[in-house]
Formats: sequence, C-alpha cells, structure tokens
Amino acid sequence: MMAGLAESAGSGAGEPAQRLRGRRVVVTGAASGIGRATARLFAAEGAALALLDRDEAGLSRTGEETGGSTFAVDITNEEVMARTAEEISEALGGIDGVVNAAGIMFQGAAADVPAKAWRTMLEVNLTGTYIVIRSCLPWLTRAPAATVVNIASAQGLLPNAPNHSAYAASKGGVINLTRALAAELAPQTRVNSVCPGMVDTPMAGDNGWNVQNYAMKRMADPIEIARAVLFLTGSESSFVTGAALAVDGGRAFH
Ligand SMILES: NC(=O)c1ccc[n+]([C@@H]2O[C@H](COP(=O)([O-])OP(=O)(O)OC[C@H]3O[C@@H](n4cnc5c(N)ncnc54)[C@H](O)[C@@H]3O)[C@@H](O)[C@H]2O)c1
Repeated sequence: MMAGLAESAGSGAGEPAQRLRGRRVVVTGAASGIGRATARLFAAEGAALALLDRDEAGLSRTGEETGGSTFAVDITNEEVMARTAEEISEALGGIDGVVNAAGIMFQGAAADVPAKAWRTMLEVNLTGTYIVIRSCLPWLTRAPAATVVNIASAQGLLPNAPNHSAYAASKGGVINLTRALAAELAPQTRVNSVCPGMVDTPMAGDNGWNVQNYAMKRMADPIEIARAVLFLTGSESSFVTGAALAVDGGRAFH
C-alpha cells in the first residue's frame, strides 16, 4: 500500500467527516483488498457495518479493525444469504446500504476455459452480487435513502485485455444489472457501480502488470477505490444513480 494514500484512509489525516453516521452498511469481500479498505474507511466515517466474506481469518481481522459484525458466508448461497440478511437486520436494526466487493478473477483464453470455470466466474461475480442485493431488499426498500454500490471493473467498460473474456462478461453483467436495478428501485434506492482499473490487492497478485495504457502509469491503492464507493454511498451523490464510475487511472478513455 502506498504510504501517503494509506495514511489518509480516515485514521491519519485529520478528523473524518462522519459522512456515514447513522448508516447501516453491508460490505461483502470485506476480508481483503477493496472490501477491507472500504470497511475501514466507512467505519472511520461513522457507519455501522456488517462484514461478509468466506475467508474467516481475514474477516475477523477486518472485524477487529472496524468494530463491524462479521458473517462468514459464501455469497452465492441463496438460503444462507437470506438468513444472513435477517441476522444483519437484527444486529444493526436495518440495512441502508450494500457494497458488493466480493469477487474472483482468473485469466484464460476462450479456447482453454471450460464452461464449468466460466459458470463459476458468473456465479460469484454476477449471480452472487444479485443474491446479496436481493437478500437485503426487504430492508433497503424500507430505508428512506438506501444505496447499493457494486464493484464492477474497467474490464466491463473496455474489455480489451486478452484472456479475460469470462471476467469481462461477468463485470459487463454487473454494470448492466446496476443500471436495471437503478431504474427499478428509484427513487428510494440508488444503485451505482465503480469500475476500477488495476488495484494493488491480492487479486492483482504480482503478475508484472503493464500499466503503460494507464494515463496515471500506476496501479491504484485500494483506498482510492474505497473513496469512490464512499462518494456513491454518501448523500453527496444524491442525484447519481445507474452510473458506472471509472476509477481506473485513465485506462478506459483512451
Ligand atoms: N484488484 C483489481 O485489480 C481489481 C480491478 C477491478 C475490479 N476488481 C474487483 O474488485 C472486487 C474486489 O477485489 P479485490 O481486488 O479486493 O480482491 P481480493 O481477492 O483482495 O478480495 C476479494 C474478496 O472476495 C471474497 N470472496 C470471493 N468469492 C466469495 C464468495 N463466493 N463469497 C464470499 N466472499 C467471497 C474473497 O474471500 C476475498 O476476501 C472484485 O469484484 C474484483 O473483481 C478488482
């Protein structure tokens, strides 16, 4: 993590503005990377958190860092998610926000990726996102100004990286699911997606990524994605819904 960026995650650079005070937010993928950075920033901004991930050890670390309630679940399990949403609403007294950051990524040429692997990609990234939102809907629709933010990808906007067709398809699906739900759930619930370029998380790994087609010529730190999620979850974005916000260092515009 780049030092200066990390320090301004809400704990080191002056007083957080408490932009999410009184908000009760579900964050998936909270054990690692973007979900963890989002949970830490949201806690500093006053949110009450329900943290979901299938990685129990990582999840309890984020729980300790943020004071959030932890739920070790697989987001693709519809019955488990329905029960979990009930438990979350009991623990927090309701649900005003969801951030879908759980996801998987693998590379492979279309000729080599079997349908089983393709299905797994869509199951986690697209169907899992749908299941989480659907499970939380009874509470979201009762909240006066609820929000959903889905972490899609710059690959969903500009799928020009070879060997990523399954991932790009899943993320294109997330962007269009976001738009469709924005229309369906307005005006009470706003639904937006964030489309990151490469981010320095375990998912990106150490693959010697080429950032030459990024105007910024570098990867993002997870906090830079979390700040966009904060904008779309807070009231400062009150007239933004159905958006696919590129936070990709200028990858997708050229
Ligand atoms: N890192 C990048 O370069 C990058 C770029 C664009 C988009 N994204 C997207 O951002 C999101 C977060 O990725 P990250 O980089 O933080 O990755 P990460 O691997 O650090 O974190 C993803 C988390 O999701 C959890 N998860 C995966 N499948 C799950 C399931 N079925 N149920 C519950 N939890 C599950 C993992 O356990 C992990 O903790 C993903 O949707 C990813 O596709 C990442």
